[in-house]
Amino acid sequence: MSIRSLLFVPGDSEKKLAKSEGVPADALILDLEDSVASQNKLIARGLVREFLSSRSAESRQQVWVRINPLDHQEAGADLGAVMPVRPDGIVLPKTRSPDDVELLGRRIGTYEAEYEVAVGSTRILPVATETPQSIFSLGEYGRCGKRLAALTWGAEDLSAAVGATANRDGDGQWTPPYQLVRSLCLFAAHAAGVEAIDTLHANFRDLEGLAVSCTEARRDGFSGKLAIHPEQVEVINEAFTPSAEEVERARRIVDLFAANPGAGTLALDGAMLDLPHLTQAKKILSLAERK
Ligand code: COA
Ligand code: MG
Repeated sequence: MSIRSLLFVPGDSEKKLAKSEGVPADALILDLEDSVASQNKLIARGLVREFLSSRSAESRQQVWVRINPLDHQEAGADLGAVMPVRPDGIVLPKTRSPDDVELLGRRIGTYEAEYEVAVGSTRILPVATETPQSIFSLGEYGRCGKRLAALTWGAEDLSAAVGATANRDGDGQWTPPYQLVRSLCLFAAHAAGVEAIDTLHANFRDLEGLAVSCTEARRDGFSGKLAIHPEQVEVINEAFTPSAEEVERARRIVDLFAANPGAGTLALDGAMLDLPHLTQAKKILSLAERK
């Protein structure tokens, strides 16, 4: 999956659903979970179903649905409502381990077969760090196979689960437990061969802080970020798109290695280049091409 921005849209809000179609998010995540109160779950399912069934075939925007957790009674009804109308993928919250992704994959597969959707085509994005137990099997997502689209992480449910009084310090930086899970999510995703998506920036009016957190996330190896407000989307898209200078330098590195077959190390502008630089340059070119 090469996606920079994923915008959460509460599934029970007709107004926000209508607005979301004009937002340049690479993907929408229509939410049936935490942003929808229990008395509105039924309405939300109907609106999300309607949204998916009426989307235009030309739209390049992916539409995902966040269902309720698998151990929650609403999850089955969520899948039953949305699978017939072919979401691009399912966001799975409060994942306990890769077993949950495999279980969801089997349930999705049954719907795909029933509704004549290519089996395996509906992807899964787990929010992989929302329960304390989830932390201890983060290294095992590689076994989930092709359905696994990426990994993302969340701090709010995890901090609530452990009774933390805060997850950021006085300067707005993640406290050590959440720095740890951010890093674990990053490495877990890459160990599984998928992309890592950074968690959301909750203060949606703080676009400067958002830009800083995007820059830090991209620096560290995340390739996109969750959004909760339309205004966050362009900031995220820009931050996760390589700049013209980066692309130009990456192209020179790739060309230089191509012109020197068999060379393990080369010099460019007075700096040493070896194979990790080539890997990184190819990655930048592939990111630049994904728009
Ligand atoms: N998706 C689509 N449209 C949204 C939106 C979203 N996530 N968030 C806000 N909008 C719309 C508003 O409806 C409003 O539309 P209008 O111009 O037609 O009036 C416009 O964008 C500006 O919104 P604004 O007034 O700045 O914010 P708000 O006070 O209406 O909403 C939130 C603030 C946080 C409640 C809202 O952004 C939201 O619901 N975010 C998603 C929350 C969520 O899904 N959480 C679950 C994941 S943790
Ligand atoms: Mg939550």
